[in-house]
Amino acid sequence: MTKKLFIKTHGCQMNEYDSAKMFDLLQEKENFEMAESEDQADLLILNTCSIREKAQEKVFHQIGRWRKIKDKKPDLKIAIGGCVASQEGDKIIKRAPAVDIVFGPQTLHKLPELYNEKDKTNINQVDISFPKLEKFDHFPVQGTGEPSAFVSIIEGCNKYCSFCVVPKTRGHEVSRTIEDILNEVSALADKGTREIHLLGQNVNNFKGTYKGEKSSLAKLIELTSKIENIERIRYTTSHPHEFKDDLVEVYDRVPELVSHVHLPVQSGSDRILELMRRRYNVEKYLDLVERIRTVRPSMSFSSDFIVGFPGETKEDFMGTMDLINEVKFDESFSFIYSPRPNTTASDMPDDVTQEEKKDRLNILQNRLNQLSFGYSRKKVGSSQSCLVYGQSRRDPGQLQARTICNRIVNFPSNDVDLIGQIINIQINEALPNCLRGNIQN
Ligand code: SAH
Ligand code: F3S
Repeated sequence: MTKKLFIKTHGCQMNEYDSAKMFDLLQEKENFEMAESEDQADLLILNTCSIREKAQEKVFHQIGRWRKIKDKKPDLKIAIGGCVASQEGDKIIKRAPAVDIVFGPQTLHKLPELYNEKDKTNINQVDISFPKLEKFDHFPVQGTGEPSAFVSIIEGCNKYCSFCVVPKTRGHEVSRTIEDILNEVSALADKGTREIHLLGQNVNNFKGTYKGEKSSLAKLIELTSKIENIERIRYTTSHPHEFKDDLVEVYDRVPELVSHVHLPVQSGSDRILELMRRRYNVEKYLDLVERIRTVRPSMSFSSDFIVGFPGETKEDFMGTMDLINEVKFDESFSFIYSPRPNTTASDMPDDVTQEEKKDRLNILQNRLNQLSFGYSRKKVGSSQSCLVYGQSRRDPGQLQARTICNRIVNFPSNDVDLIGQIINIQINEALPNCLRGNIQN
């Protein structure tokens, strides 16, 4: 009998990638199918995020809801993976005994084994070790033909920004080899994928080998662009400190590389950047933006911002606002600083009230929204080359596409054959979160 699986994913794109791989593995090795709802499942997996305190709290609320399903269905198994699992290990089972399996971001390939062991012995299973790149040897290369697909190229992070838990939860940086990555890209392209989104916490420090020699992200991008049917390439996330010259130059040579980059700056105050241990200052960041814009003038930049880092003064915050006005960022993410366990920033004195932090976040987000809406409005009346991603979730009479600068565009069409194609769309309306248009003949 086929067993049913339900996966809930919190957090970043790396987690989305990992969750897709969990499904591929369990389908291939244990014959699992995706359940339509949680109460039909034989195995419930929560892929967790611990980047901020709120994300972490969500885990135990979710387990509480799943426990009620398990009360009625005692054979049901609950597995917790991702960064909270990595951080808390067997403490999760101590606090929530309904949980059967705990695994980390680097041990998800062991899920079929952990599941079977629990099934046979009824002993809870915990494995949050860091066996480097082992997991990639176990992933079935499948691909479902989706127009855009994630491909992980580097795991972990060595940067130890003072506020961040990722180096602890995902381990140290390890790059896959270029050959291994290109195999995955080719398999995806054969199935119909047109856009590759290269993933890592810090892709700029990619050091995978090519023909046995240490290589770079720039080289990987060039080789990826040569694979037949790959028409677009994106990458996330880029650390400004390691954005090397060869990567800037690649924008000149590789038209498949999209005209948008996510380049998290975090703050516009040199003092705070130093305390964050980000290894660049405002001047260096602005110089990098300038160099990229010189090579590709249409480039759009998005960023992450942390507001209310310990001891952030009004002047520090105004520095961030000045930087926003100077770069004119497009669609960005911003967060109130959240102290994380075992990070150096969590011991720093902080005299800024939560009220003040919320006010600053509001001011910053209003400005970011204004800028982003401004970019959208400027697109009205233009024709944009767009990759069609699929049907709009809200309205099946509409298809959804993405511009080369990363904007979502909805347009009326029932022609599902357009999915996976690059077409020209005439933009005629800008809404706060997307554009609307019509196919151009
Ligand atoms: N690798 C990425 C960041 C991963 S975390 C990079 O190089 O920037 C995604 C974002 O979450 C970060 O850019 C940061 O803005 C935010 N973040 C990380 N830790 C945080 C914390 N303790 N409090 C608030 N926001 C945080
Ligand atoms: Fe975190 Fe800094 Fe790495 S934000 S993921 S430690 S680059």
